[in-house]
Amino acid sequence: MTNKFRYFIANWKMYGNLNSLKSINNVIKFTKSNSKKRFKLIYCPPYTLLSAFCAKLQKSSISVGAQNCHEKNEHGAFTGSVNAQMIKNLGVKYVILGHSENRINGDTDDIINKKIKSALNQKLTVIFCIGETLYQRNNKGTNKIIKKQIIKGLKGLKKNSKIIIAYEPVWSIGTGIIPKNYELEKNIKFINSIILKNTKLKKFRILYGGSVNPKNIENLNTISMIDGYLIGGASQDPKKLIDIIKKSYN
Ligand code: 13P
Repeated sequence: MTNKFRYFIANWKMYGNLNSLKSINNVIKFTKSNSKKRFKLIYCPPYTLLSAFCAKLQKSSISVGAQNCHEKNEHGAFTGSVNAQMIKNLGVKYVILGHSENRINGDTDDIINKKIKSALNQKLTVIFCIGETLYQRNNKGTNKIIKKQIIKGLKGLKKNSKIIIAYEPVWSIGTGIIPKNYELEKNIKFINSIILKNTKLKKFRILYGGSVNPKNIENLNTISMIDGYLIGGASQDPKKLIDIIKKSYN
């Protein structure tokens, strides 16, 4: 297996409390003893744990990301919201935007575009999620929806904007079902070409997300266009997360 550089992004979603901090001790040890391997691990815990994760991971190579942010740059009367400035202030380096679980809750392409600009303005690296639903896939609408999400979401971005693309077919999230290799290859190629044709971005990585686990990781790693993974459920189990990374380099 090649020593390809890969991202492993742990999206904890609405899970975790202060006790969960202990659970990452082994992961920290693992990254220390595998510092020659070319990967970047990023933990994205809920807002409530961002500070604690930043403090705990300060001396490690592991970075911290938030799972969302508000679209406004400035502070204001937005009860329950957190903006990019507030996230950045904690020492967070990344933010996930456009996740399907937030698109369902009202994040339109235009709102996501504003959030992305606000995050980039704060020098956060954006993990931009796109992907089709099962209905869209079954109705041959995958290319159309992905193209729309990219064009509207990345509208007006500068050439060197720090964006990581995460292709997450909605029907793969939490279902244990992943696309066949040929389908993934085809969709990732399409994503790559749409970004190059319709945005100024030249350098970006494309990750896959949706039911990534220690059982399917070796197969996923055979797809050379995948630059890493956005991992939900399996990322909360330190053994599984370590296993996923180990199997990517052995
Ligand atoms: P699962 O890995 O639990 O399917 O979640 C994927 C995901 O939504 C990551 O952002």
